[in-house]
Amino acid sequence: MGEAQAARKVTTHTLRELKAKGQRAVCVTAYDYPTATFADRAGVDLILVGDSAAMTVLGHANTLSITMTEMLVFARAVARGAKRAFVLGDLPFLSYQVSDADAITNAGAFLAAGCDAVKCEGGRRVAPRVRAMTDAGIAVMGHIGLTPQALGQQGGYRVQGKTRAQTAVILDDAKALEDAGAFAILLEALPPESAAFVRENLSIPVYGIGAGAQVDGQLVISHDLLGNFVGEVKPRFVSRLASVDAVVTEAFSTYADQVRSAQFPAPEHWYSLDSKELLSLAAAS
Ligand code: KIV
Repeated sequence: MGEAQAARKVTTHTLRELKAKGQRAVCVTAYDYPTATFADRAGVDLILVGDSAAMTVLGHANTLSITMTEMLVFARAVARGAKRAFVLGDLPFLSYQVSDADAITNAGAFLAAGCDAVKCEGGRRVAPRVRAMTDAGIAVMGHIGLTPQALGQQGGYRVQGKTRAQTAVILDDAKALEDAGAFAILLEALPPESAAFVRENLSIPVYGIGAGAQVDGQLVISHDLLGNFVGEVKPRFVSRLASVDAVVTEAFSTYADQVRSAQFPAPEHWYSLDSKELLSLAAAS
């Protein structure tokens, strides 16, 4: 990537331009400074500080228990690392469902932490909240289809939009979010044709995670991509391009062997002592 391009921060305007030019936006999750830095260096367009941090980083079984306080720690770290990428803070469960005031306050806290926008889950039922946030000047992405915060209601992590009727409901949700001022929509776990149908009927960018190729950009969870997710959830849409789990386990195990066999530390890892000081220390002992 050229320097001029690297320096130009991605904005909602850039994302609209990408769509207009038919160029796909590249989106990943990140929860820490190094991962955000590496994704940014690689030219990723959008980094989601997802509430998936509950599972990927904190080891919870689902996303429901992560708090705003925890999310803001991750958001600040990612915002420091993302020089060019657009940073999206994910509103956690119960941070926006209860009232407009909560939604605006918590979304505002993500912006104060360095995020460019926020994302929230749900369609028509959260559209008034999305309107409240956009009226407060906050850029909001809607997230529909499989919505992990509605795990109980959806009966697990299940593919959505599998029938024409279900897809029509998803489109109504998407339109309500667009009308409420959302700058983009994320579709999760939909057959490609259903996602394409929703995208064709909206004018804002429509991104997908597990929603096929006929959308304006792809999101993956970085732990799925890098191979360091520890847990049982293994969606079929995941593209695993590295084995960080194996690399890290191997490095720790080599370190353990070296310590136990006294191979580490070796002279190249030591700080040297001036020879005069060495003599005087020897004399003192
Ligand atoms: O938290 C997250 O990473 C998400 C994706 C699953 C879309 O919301």
